[in-house]
Amino acid sequence: MMQKSALNVKKIRQDFPILKRKVMGGKPLVYLDNAATTQKPLAVINAISDYYMNYNSNIHRAVHQLAEEATFAFEETRQKVARFINARHTDEIIFTRNATEAINLVAYSWGRANVKRGDRVVISEIEHHSNIVPWQILTQEKGGRLEYIGVNDSGYLKMHEYEKYLASKRVKLVSVSQMSNVLGTIIPVEKIIKMSHERGIPVLVDGAQSVPHMQVDVQKMDCDFMAFSAHKMLGPTGVGVLYVKREVLEKMPPFMGGGDMIKEVHKYETRYNDLPYKFEGGTPNIADVIGFGAAIDYLSNLGMDRVREHEIEITKYALEKITGVKGVTLYGPPNAMDRGGVVSFNIGDIHPHDLATIMNDHGVAIRSGHHCAQVLMERLDVSATSRASFYIYNTKEEVDIFIGALSEARRLFKI
Ligand code: ALA
Repeated sequence: MMQKSALNVKKIRQDFPILKRKVMGGKPLVYLDNAATTQKPLAVINAISDYYMNYNSNIHRAVHQLAEEATFAFEETRQKVARFINARHTDEIIFTRNATEAINLVAYSWGRANVKRGDRVVISEIEHHSNIVPWQILTQEKGGRLEYIGVNDSGYLKMHEYEKYLASKRVKLVSVSQMSNVLGTIIPVEKIIKMSHERGIPVLVDGAQSVPHMQVDVQKMDCDFMAFSAHKMLGPTGVGVLYVKREVLEKMPPFMGGGDMIKEVHKYETRYNDLPYKFEGGTPNIADVIGFGAAIDYLSNLGMDRVREHEIEITKYALEKITGVKGVTLYGPPNAMDRGGVVSFNIGDIHPHDLATIMNDHGVAIRSGHHCAQVLMERLDVSATSRASFYIYNTKEEVDIFIGALSEARRLFKI
C-alpha cells in the first residue's frame, strides 16, 4: 500500500497563484529556492490588500475606527507569533524588518551593554553572514573575541570545541543557527543552551531556517533570544521577529530612538515606552505584519509536525535520487532526519552559476553561490555550491524534473 503523504500537496498548490506560472517559454515553474524565500498563498496576499483597501491607517496613535482596526490586526499577529513559538508573554515578541535586523538589535542593545574587553562571543562555522558580521562589529569595537565552533565533514558541529570555549570562562554570549541554510544540519540547540545556562551564559538562536520548517518551542528550548523572518514562512518580505525572554528584555537599553518607542520626550530626557514597543521605533511595516498573521494561520492549520514530515519525505527522496547522479558531491548530513529540506551540492567542476542557468532553462529555480555563508564555504573548501530547498508545496515529481535537468547538465558538460 502506498504511504499516505503528510500534507495534501495538490490542495495546497491551489492556494499559491504563482505555482501556475509558466517560465522559460512555457515550462511549469519548479520552485526549489525556498530557503531564500517562500512563495505566498492567496490568504497572505489578500490580507495585505484587504488592509490597504479597507482599513489602512497608522497604529498605536489615533482613536478613529481605521486606526483601531489596524492596531487590532497588527497586535493580533503579535499574539499569533507568540502562540506559534510558544512564548510565555506576547510582549516578548518584537517586530523588526528581518532576522538580520533582529540579530543586530541584540548586538547593539544587549551586546553593547554586556560585552567588554576580553569577552568572547561564540558562534559556529555554519552561520549565515547575519549571525557573523554583527558579532564581528561588536567584538572589534569592544576588544572582545569571536570564537567559532567547527563543523565536521558530515556537517555536524564539533561539540568538544564548544565545551572547550565554555570552559574558558570568558564567554558572554553564544549565538547559533538552529538549521544551516547550506547544509541543512539541525543543530542540537537545546543541548547547547543547557550547557551554556549551566554557566550563566545566554544563547541567541537564529531560527530563520528552522521556525518555518518545524515545531519550535522557545520555552522548551529555553533560548534567551531567537530571530526569524516572515518571508521564509509564507509571509511577506520586510517583517522579522525577535523573541527575547522577558527578564532579559527588561534590562535591555533601546535600539533605535524615535516615535512610538517613547512614553514622554522632554528636551534632555525621554521616558521609554513599555515592552515591546520600546524596541519598535517608527511606523512599522503594518500591512506586512498583518499579512504575516495570515501566513501563521496557514501554517498552523497545516500543523508544523506535518510540515516537517513532508519535508523529510521530499528531502529523503531528493537525497536518494541525487546520490545516483554521477559526479555529484553532496554537503551536509547524509540522513534526512538530521537535516531540513535543503540539499547543497556540486557536480564535477561545473560552476554552480552555470548549473543554475541550465536548471533555469528547464524551469527549475535553485540558488547558486555562497548562500551568505562564506565562512562555511571556506571550511568546505569551495567558492560556491548549488542548493535546492523545499517547502510544503513541492512534490516528488518536481524532484524528478530537477534530477532530469541535472542529468542534462552533466551530458552538456560531458561529466
Ligand atoms: N538567507 C537566504 C538564503 O539562504 C537568503 O538563501
